Amino acid sequence: MTNTSHDRLLIIDFGSQVTQLIARRLRELNVYCEIHPFQKVTEEFLAEFSPKAVIFSGGPASVIDASSPRPPTSVFDLGIPILGICYGQQVMMQMLGGKVERGHGTAEFGRAFVTPEESDLLLLKGWFDSGREQVWMSHGDHVSEIAPGFKVFGTSPNAPYAITADTARNFYAVQFHPEVHHTPNGSKLYENFVRMAGFTGDWTMGAYKDEAIRKIREQVGDKKVICGLSGGVDSSVAAVLIHEAIGDQLTCVFVDHGLLRQGEAEEVVTMFRDHYNMPLIHADEQDLFLGELDGQFDPETKRKIIGRLFIDVFQKHAAEVGGAKFLAQGTLYPDVIESVSFSGGPSVTIKSHHNVGGLPEKMGLKLVEPLRELFKDEVRALGLELGLPDSFIGRHPFPGPGLAIRCPGEITREKLEILRKADAVFIDQIRKHGLYDEIWQAFVAILPVRTVGVMGDGRTYDFACALRAVTSVDGMTADYYPFSHEFLGETATRIINEVQGINRVTYDITSKPPGTIEWE
Ligand code: XMP
Repeated sequence: MTNTSHDRLLIIDFGSQVTQLIARRLRELNVYCEIHPFQKVTEEFLAEFSPKAVIFSGGPASVIDASSPRPPTSVFDLGIPILGICYGQQVMMQMLGGKVERGHGTAEFGRAFVTPEESDLLLLKGWFDSGREQVWMSHGDHVSEIAPGFKVFGTSPNAPYAITADTARNFYAVQFHPEVHHTPNGSKLYENFVRMAGFTGDWTMGAYKDEAIRKIREQVGDKKVICGLSGGVDSSVAAVLIHEAIGDQLTCVFVDHGLLRQGEAEEVVTMFRDHYNMPLIHADEQDLFLGELDGQFDPETKRKIIGRLFIDVFQKHAAEVGGAKFLAQGTLYPDVIESVSFSGGPSVTIKSHHNVGGLPEKMGLKLVEPLRELFKDEVRALGLELGLPDSFIGRHPFPGPGLAIRCPGEITREKLEILRKADAVFIDQIRKHGLYDEIWQAFVAILPVRTVGVMGDGRTYDFACALRAVTSVDGMTADYYPFSHEFLGETATRIINEVQGINRVTYDITSKPPGTIEWE
């Protein structure tokens, strides 16, 4: 639980795939909220958290099963507004004296239209202006009898109790998911809910920054902190924020493993050391990494070598700082969020993609993670608030193992050099055509195959490469970017003309799944 002076909203997670989206919608309204799994939300937890409002998320269970998840009954005695969504609606109805029945032909998945029953509900201000609202349904069970005190405010063909409310107690329950994009007017519903609950929308990035700085100073005191700087947005924003809080008590370690893009090391070092005056160790370890990768073909072996060396090198250079007690990381909210498992009790899924994973225990360091409560776009907003340049904040993600996973097969210095040049041309093309911000990630992969070509009057026998550009929201799923044929033709010509060593260019049009974004 976070120590914040802001009013907070509690989202009790019953395991819906889209619970995170509720948090997003609320944060867009400048409301501070936290998601906690139902197993953790006890009566004592509620008392300590002291929410100003509560939302019950959806979830895959059926309230008809005796073992299905429930919030503590005391939540209904807090005297605060509660909004139940889908499973959250059903659990609310059942606990308050209504009835829920299994589907039997009334299950509803996908788009539906809700029409109003009564119109004088503050929750629905700005709804039904054109008579009906499109919503996204995803339910097997349905409420067959509403709880005493509730009235119906909206119905859909398969959900007669699509929107219900007990206005005296400020309890609201909807069968659909207002947090997803397919409920186009859904944000309005959340906005009405938080305004009714008395949230003023004071959770701005400026306020967050001041509070984060105060908390970092409190946590760290006069001790030293080290931070692995990758040049990516998350670790950069974390570093600048911590530097603003504790100045030269922070030292960053930037490991150049020889797998960076063209000009990347210079850009990062110049920006942080010269522009921000941050103590920065630039560890040039190209020979070490490329030496150990020499002759390795297997993707997993390559990744493991890089991971192991990274930790060794980081540890070696961090020792130079002397007496550091904390390790700073740019961990984001989606990385730490606890997911709910119904079969095996609480399961905590933590995506530890950070390169320095494993180090804190080994080195006896405590973690400083000032971005733990933020989503990616909020980190970008915080970066802007801290004065990081737009061009830096908007950079595409770049993986820790760098160009190694864009160089299938053996990694050689020659191939890396060719890859860097081709990649720079591709990105230059994307920027020139004004497409950079529309694309989640774009890069070139150099293929472990030489092909025959003809240039001028001569035969060439050079590498083939693949262009990769995808759109995505979070990197979990992705689609290839639909470049025009002109763009692709122009880019292929430029790469072949400007990059010696490549004589064939292909475009990778695989989505994820079944492909992945990177090639290894
Ligand atoms: P894939 O290839 O799994 O990539 O579809 C999804 C996103 O994750 C990035 N990626 C990594 N980032 N360390 C990182 O920091 C890694 O080992 C790693 N592997 C993949 C990838 O660039 C994409 O944005």
